[in-house]
Amino acid sequence: MKGLILSGGKGTRLRPLTFTQAKQLVPVANKPVLFYGIEALVGAGIRDIGIIVGDTKAEIREAVGDGRRWGDDVRVSYIDQPEPLGLAHAVLIAEEFLAGEPFVMYLGDNILKSGIVSLVDSFRKRKPNALILLTPVPNPRMFGVAELENGKVVRLVEKPQEPKSNLALVGVYMFDSHIFEAAKAIKPSRRNELEITDAIQFLVDSGYEVQPHLVSGWWKDTGKIEDILEANRLILETISGAVLGAVDDASRISGEVIIEKGVSVRSSTIRGPAIIGAGTEIADSYIGPFTSIQKNCRIIQTEIEHSIVLEGSEIVDVGSRIDESLIGREVRIYKCPPKPLAYRFMVGDKSEIGLK
Ligand code: DAU
Repeated sequence: MKGLILSGGKGTRLRPLTFTQAKQLVPVANKPVLFYGIEALVGAGIRDIGIIVGDTKAEIREAVGDGRRWGDDVRVSYIDQPEPLGLAHAVLIAEEFLAGEPFVMYLGDNILKSGIVSLVDSFRKRKPNALILLTPVPNPRMFGVAELENGKVVRLVEKPQEPKSNLALVGVYMFDSHIFEAAKAIKPSRRNELEITDAIQFLVDSGYEVQPHLVSGWWKDTGKIEDILEANRLILETISGAVLGAVDDASRISGEVIIEKGVSVRSSTIRGPAIIGAGTEIADSYIGPFTSIQKNCRIIQTEIEHSIVLEGSEIVDVGSRIDESLIGREVRIYKCPPKPLAYRFMVGDKSEIGLK
């Protein structure tokens, strides 16, 4: 069985971060979202993985490489999608790579706690034409939605105005080669995409077996900031602490905290779960639970929690606590001189600042 990870697309909902970075590379607990998908596939015994890439191809290739870091026999190939014309379009352009083998399609911005081992096993054994993952959500309008009757899939609609169920399609699918017939038969949707939901509907209407599976455990589509913070919280809940950097006697570490190599913590309190990336300096600060700070940051005289700080950023002497924030790469937040009493901003397009 092969793996197909979709990592093209534009990531407009995560601007400004995605002006300079692929949305699939935004880190959750200091690891790019995309890596969770690769690990899920490798964990399920899949060794041959194709990644669909678009405009951000170069940085995705640079971050992932040839796949060998996940095992000597793991191979990653890159498949160009010149324009993000839909998930079913991505399947079509991967036809040659997939070469008629059944495959798992994994959306590169999704994270699934439970992994996919048992699902892949069940798909291998039972050999339906497709297996889809579903989970109840409070806001089905944001997703592909499935309707079931007597446990069978009868209808799938992409982001319906009036959802007929609360069962969202999770971004992991398994297909045999009939999906190509389906993707070739459908027409672009109103948003001009070849929708995978329409292709699966074609399978249902043509009498092919589409097996639904309800996901137990959490699932996150990290397309929006609040989902990234939530995914960060959920992953950090599972970590075990390890102190590899230097922590002075005036500091207190409690709970599960990973402090990577080359970190220096002085006169600070870190309350886990939290992760501090290599080379970061923390002084006279409080780092609260559910915080991920990437490498080479400086956090000085600052209180921060439930947040993600990307590499190379500097936060110095911020008067009040920073909470539920996603701070990009090489950002500087610091206290202004006392006069004139004013805020001073140099903020990129589509940024968001919440003042008290
Ligand atoms: O996350 C689950 C949802 O994912 C499903 O419930 C929906 O049915 C499904 O259509 C999809 O909806 P999204 O609006 O979240 O899809 P998005 O455009 O964010 O694309 C998902 C991933 O696929 C993302 O990593 C970008 C990539 N992609 C997307 C398109 C449209 C491609 O590689 N090529 C594309 O043409």
